[in-house]
Amino acid sequence: MEKKFKRTLVTTALPYANGPVHIGHLAGVYVPADIYTRFLRLRGEDVVMIGGSDEHGVPITIKAQNEGVTPQDIVDRYHKIIKDSMEELGISFNIYSRTTSDIHEATASEFFRRLYDNSQFVEKSSMQLYDEKANQFLADRYVTGECPHCHYDRAYGDQCEKCGTSLNATDLINPKSAITGNTPVLKETKHWYLPLDRWEKQLSQWILEGHKEWKTNVYGQCKSWIDLGLQPRAVSRDLDWGVPVPVEGAEGKVLYVWFDAPIGYISNTKELLPDTWETYWKDPETRIINFIGKDNIVFHCIIFPAMLMAYGDNYQLPDNVPANEFLNLEGDKISTSRNWAIWLHEYLRDFPGKQDVLRYVLTANAPETKDNDFTWRDFQSRNNSELVAILGNFVNRAMVLTHKYFEGKVPEAGELQPIDNEIFGEIKGIGQSLTNALETFHFREALKEAMNIARAGNKYLQETEPWKVAKSDMARVATILNVAIQICANIAVAFEPFLPFMSGKLSEMLVLGKLSWDMLGQPDLIAAGTQLGQPELLFEKIEDDAIQAQLDRLSRIREENKLKSWQPEPQQPDVPFDDFMKVDIRVGTVLECKRVPKADKLLQFLIDDGMEQRTIVSGIAKYYNPEDLTGKQICFVANFEPRKLKGVLSQGMILSAQNPDGSLVVIGPTGAVAPGAQVK
Ligand code: MF3
Ligand code: ZN
Repeated sequence: MEKKFKRTLVTTALPYANGPVHIGHLAGVYVPADIYTRFLRLRGEDVVMIGGSDEHGVPITIKAQNEGVTPQDIVDRYHKIIKDSMEELGISFNIYSRTTSDIHEATASEFFRRLYDNSQFVEKSSMQLYDEKANQFLADRYVTGECPHCHYDRAYGDQCEKCGTSLNATDLINPKSAITGNTPVLKETKHWYLPLDRWEKQLSQWILEGHKEWKTNVYGQCKSWIDLGLQPRAVSRDLDWGVPVPVEGAEGKVLYVWFDAPIGYISNTKELLPDTWETYWKDPETRIINFIGKDNIVFHCIIFPAMLMAYGDNYQLPDNVPANEFLNLEGDKISTSRNWAIWLHEYLRDFPGKQDVLRYVLTANAPETKDNDFTWRDFQSRNNSELVAILGNFVNRAMVLTHKYFEGKVPEAGELQPIDNEIFGEIKGIGQSLTNALETFHFREALKEAMNIARAGNKYLQETEPWKVAKSDMARVATILNVAIQICANIAVAFEPFLPFMSGKLSEMLVLGKLSWDMLGQPDLIAAGTQLGQPELLFEKIEDDAIQAQLDRLSRIREENKLKSWQPEPQQPDVPFDDFMKVDIRVGTVLECKRVPKADKLLQFLIDDGMEQRTIVSGIAKYYNPEDLTGKQICFVANFEPRKLKGVLSQGMILSAQNPDGSLVVIGPTGAVAPGAQVK
């Protein structure tokens, strides 16, 4: 049963300020949260949307160290990029603040201190890796070494990127400090743990019994955590970047980033509403909704709620946590460190004025129930065949016809015919499904419903054919265009949560005042006689070259990543001398070199091997002009079993070395050598 509520607090996961935001963040969190918040605002509800940057944690310190700047420099840089770009995309936060603010430090510190004073923590000592040269404990990410599972020799202390296993730094074989390269030692350190086990029963009741309506991915993850049995979690770290642990004797220790970050929701609400923030957190008639990605579920559904329960003082738990799955990019997982992403600030630079196109595509493709893929081709086709061809086309036809026949003055409707009544009935029905979908966080479906209004509009014009009726019955044309303009007004309302820029532009053309959700489905939103603005196109076609430029950028990044992760092959097992001698490697002089017809990879060589001339075919055509090899000396395996390649008998194998990018370089002697000389 729906709980009664008076106001809604929408929180959005605080993005790490160690990089800009990308389309994955947007599709998973900020676009859906913004749609939802705008929808509630249009309904006249009391709602605030809270955001901010998550500015603590180890990755930020690593980035700072790599660049030789301070962590504060890093977060200042990215906080600004993130804040400005989200604003430009129309993400309508009531506040977008940051976790390095004074108010946050004070709030998080007080939060910890109260739990500490009320014996809500357990203290435990454990052995952690310590760098004696740098005089500091090493966060898991700061340790590299050999993976105990796949023996990849550059695994990180928290995860092996080769085999994907999560690790503890102490599992690594031959660990090395990433700061000094030293071999770390084990040293005892004390930390505070939040005993989640104490809250297991309450958490289980609250979620597993009380929130069966949550999305199945969220409910399922919570259930498997609870079923496994909850353990105490360390909430402090040995690090010099973060909120200091406010306890005597805790020098050099800070709050764990996942302890302070969610408190950021509270700090930011305080900063926004210094006098009334408490009603948004402590009044049971407030509804709290956390928008997050799936990797954040345990923190929002288990750990932060346990923190709030431990704090007491009436803090309310979230009513829903509509977490999304992940958005991939052109088939691969988005990754900040591998630069495999579409960065929002770059999108805004490359596609100026096209905020709504991105919002549309990310919503239409939102990873609501499973991971989804963003592709530039899909982006282009959704713009061209949906936004331009359906939505833009309908509005443009209605506007242009009204200008053509009535000089842009909304004509008076005569008696409505069944088809006119039907269309309003249809829009009312769509409005209801749309509302329903939005209330239940089904944003893809909601967007589809909104598009159905434009579809219905196109169909209406197709069936009523005002351009034909104009030859005989202008009174009927007046009615039809009045109806069409009212549909446009409905579109302005229905799309405001999704495409606010389009909706604003359309509202201006229609001279609509303030929009509200209850206008949906109404047939008389614009009075007859209203002078409409000039018809302007709402969307424009995106051409192939703009898309190709983006695809080219991504292939460059793919190539760069291949080079970065390249490692020489591990050495082969030892070979006895006699075995080596079986391979007869010789020097030859290239007498002739040409392309093999109909084989774009192959070059055909004629080689002087000191005794006679032999033909060898080699797969290096992509990397050489045949003329450039003529006259050169090369090494080849003389007793390689002859075989036919594209009909040419190849007697031997030319030796070449392969670069990380796959290119091949032919191997030859560094000084003049008699053809036929053996290589040993
Ligand atoms: N910075 C985290 C992430 O990007 C999200 C923090 S959400 C908060 O995964 F609740 F902790 F703020
Ligand atoms: Zn591994």
